[in-house]
Amino acid sequence: MIELVIEAMVDAVVVVDAEGRITLANSGATQLTGWSIDELKGMPVSTLLVDDSSGLRTVVRRRIEDGDILRREESYLVSKSGKRIPVSVTGSPVMTPTGELQGIVLVARDVREVRQLLTDKEAEISRRRKAEEELRAAKASIETQLEQAREQLLLAERRATLGTLAGGVGHELRNIAQIQIAAIDEIQQALGGPSLLERIHEILPELERVGEHITQHGQRLMQLAKPGPDRVAPIDLNEVVRDVGGMLKMAGKLRRVELVLALGNEPLMVTVNRTRIEQILVNLVTNAVDAIGVDGTVTVEVRASDDGKRAVVEVRDTGSGIAPDTLDKIFEPFFTTKPADRGTGLGLPVVREIVESYGGKIEVVSELGAGTTFRFDLPR
Ligand SMILES: Nc1ncnc2c1ncn2[C@@H]1O[C@H](COP(=O)(O)OP(=O)(O)OP(=O)(O)O)[C@@H](O)[C@H]1O
Ligand SMILES: [Mg+2]
Repeated sequence: MIELVIEAMVDAVVVVDAEGRITLANSGATQLTGWSIDELKGMPVSTLLVDDSSGLRTVVRRRIEDGDILRREESYLVSKSGKRIPVSVTGSPVMTPTGELQGIVLVARDVREVRQLLTDKEAEISRRRKAEEELRAAKASIETQLEQAREQLLLAERRATLGTLAGGVGHELRNIAQIQIAAIDEIQQALGGPSLLERIHEILPELERVGEHITQHGQRLMQLAKPGPDRVAPIDLNEVVRDVGGMLKMAGKLRRVELVLALGNEPLMVTVNRTRIEQILVNLVTNAVDAIGVDGTVTVEVRASDDGKRAVVEVRDTGSGIAPDTLDKIFEPFFTTKPADRGTGLGLPVVREIVESYGGKIEVVSELGAGTTFRFDLPR
């Protein structure tokens, strides 16, 4: 009966007598080791079962004589071909009714599969750890790239701002150079005529102002590289408007448009850079003339605000007016409705930039087909 039970077990089972010789083995043991049952019978158990440390035999004997059950994980079954098969061994004593040790039943379980599973698990864990590290490294590299992209964006924005500023300066230089050319034309036409001296007297101050403009714009271009404050001084706004009117008229910028100056009797002083204010007026009046086309009136009015704390300038025209859906775009850099050779779309953004730099505000009221009013104020 006991033999049948032993045979039915899948693990390798051997029964050993008190001398340590194998008396019984099942087919689990023969399959695992390659020895036949006959070969196994009588074999010293120490030939079949070994362990790395103290020698299984002594341990088996001592423990089992004490009536202990032996469990040992790291043992090996030595197969017929000499291969060591890792097994986990359980040993139980077989006692006579009088309490003497008759033998030991050893059950050895093949742990290769379990070990393989363990090894696989460990490999998987280390694979995961490696993947995690790679992920972490990738994240760090993406963060670095993001940081670089952010810096590049900042740089690009700065360049775009510089471009806009430089474009604005170029725009003003072109405006003013046209006035200079017109002045030179006038002198050339007057050469040899009776009114030469008179014309020269008229034109020289304009040319001087043009020179002043060019100097200031050169200064601004230099400031792009190394910003510094604008030079400011108290000036009478009435006087500036009068001078700009004369300059535009002389340059032929007004064409057939009538320019009306509604100036105050008292000087209206503001502390600003004169060239910058002239720039505002040239831009606004030029836009007004463009909007009129042929016949119409541009009025420039200078007055103090109701509370007397600010100076107010209004440029009104009887031109085309601005469509409501266009109105909120006109201050954007490069927004223009004019042909490419006529407009760059930098006039108004420059105007607003100057007004705001002095703590002023600019607003526009327009009616399509009726005309437009630009109004700005400056602190007195
Ligand atoms: N007084 C005005 N009446 C009608 N439309 C105007 C007036 N002023 C400006 N605009 C509109 O606003 C747009 C933008 O004006 P802005 O002065 O900025 O550029 P621009 O005159 O087109 O070109 P630039 O001044 O660079 O030569 C103009 O193209 C025009 O459509
Ligand atoms: Mg313009």
